[in-house]
Amino acid sequence: MTIETLLVERKNAVARVTINRPDKLNALNAQAKKELNQVFEELKSDPGVNVVILTGAGEKAFVAGTDIKELTFLNAESGKEFSSGGQRVFDLIENLGKPVIAAVNGYALGGGCELALACHIRVASENAKFGQPEVNLAVIPGYGGTQRLARLIGKGRALEMILTGDPIDAVEALRVGLVNKVVPSADLLPVCEAIAEKIASKGQIAVRLALKAVNMTQETNLTDGQELEASLFGLCCDSEDFHEGTKAFMEKRKPVFRNT
Ligand code: COA
Repeated sequence: MTIETLLVERKNAVARVTINRPDKLNALNAQAKKELNQVFEELKSDPGVNVVILTGAGEKAFVAGTDIKELTFLNAESGKEFSSGGQRVFDLIENLGKPVIAAVNGYALGGGCELALACHIRVASENAKFGQPEVNLAVIPGYGGTQRLARLIGKGRALEMILTGDPIDAVEALRVGLVNKVVPSADLLPVCEAIAEKIASKGQIAVRLALKAVNMTQETNLTDGQELEASLFGLCCDSEDFHEGTKAFMEKRKPVFRNT
C-alpha cells in the first residue's frame, strides 16, 4: 500500500511520523487512520526504531479531529464500528512497546486531542489548542477520549472540556497536566528530538518494560501493579544491558547498551 496521508522519516533510532493533510488541518479520514495503523504496525516490529515522534504538517494543526465529512452517514451500528476502529488504532499507539512523543504543533481537537492522549509524552507549541468539541456535533469523543482524558487530568476537568466543547490553550494544558512541556513553535521538533534521542540512548529493554509497567497503572490496582513491577524488574536484571549499566557506573564510564 502506498502511504499518501503520512510522511515517515528516520534519523538513527528515532522515527518521525507526520500526518500530512495540512489543507484539511490534518483531519483524520479513513485513509489516514488505515495508514496510521499500517505505519505503526511496521514501527512496532522494526528493531531499528526505539522512539517515535508524531506530529502534524503545517503550522496550524496537529490534527483538527476526525474528518467530519465521514461522520454524516453513521448510524448506531456503523457509528459503534467507527468508534471501535479508531480506538484500535490509538490502542496500537499506546501499546506500541516503544515511546511515542506527540509534538503538538497547533489544533489538537476531537480525535486530534485523543491521538495526543494515546501518546506517552506530549510536548506542545505555544499556539497549540486542545479540545473535545464533539458535543457541538451532538456526539461524544469516540477514540478513547472519555477514558484517557479523565484518567490524565481528572474527571472534573475532563468533563468540563467534554461537556462544554471549549478548547484550552497550551498554558492551561500544561497547568492541568495534559502536556509535559510548552515550547516556542520553532523549538517544538528539536525539543522532541532531544527527548527522543535521550530515551533512545538508554537500555531499550528497561525503556520498554517501564512503559509496560506504567501503562498498566490504568488497568490495575496497586497490589497487582507492584507485582507486575517486581516481575519486570526481575526481567531487567536478567539482561546484559543491566550488567553493563551497573558495571559502567562502577568503572566511571558511559555504558554501551546493546538492547540484549
Ligand atoms: N474534518 C474535516 N475537515 C476539517 C476538519 C475536520 N475535523 N477541521 C478542519 N477541516 C477543514 C475545513 O473544512 C477546511 O476545509 P476547506 O478549505 O475545504 O473548506 C480546512 O480544513 C481549513 O479549516 P477552516 O475551518 O477553514 O480553518 P479555520 O482556521 O477557520 O478554523 C478550526 C480552524 C479548527 C477552528 C475549524 O476548522 C474547526 O472547528 N474544525 C473542526 C474541529 C472539530 O470539531 N473537530 C472534532 C471533530 S469530531
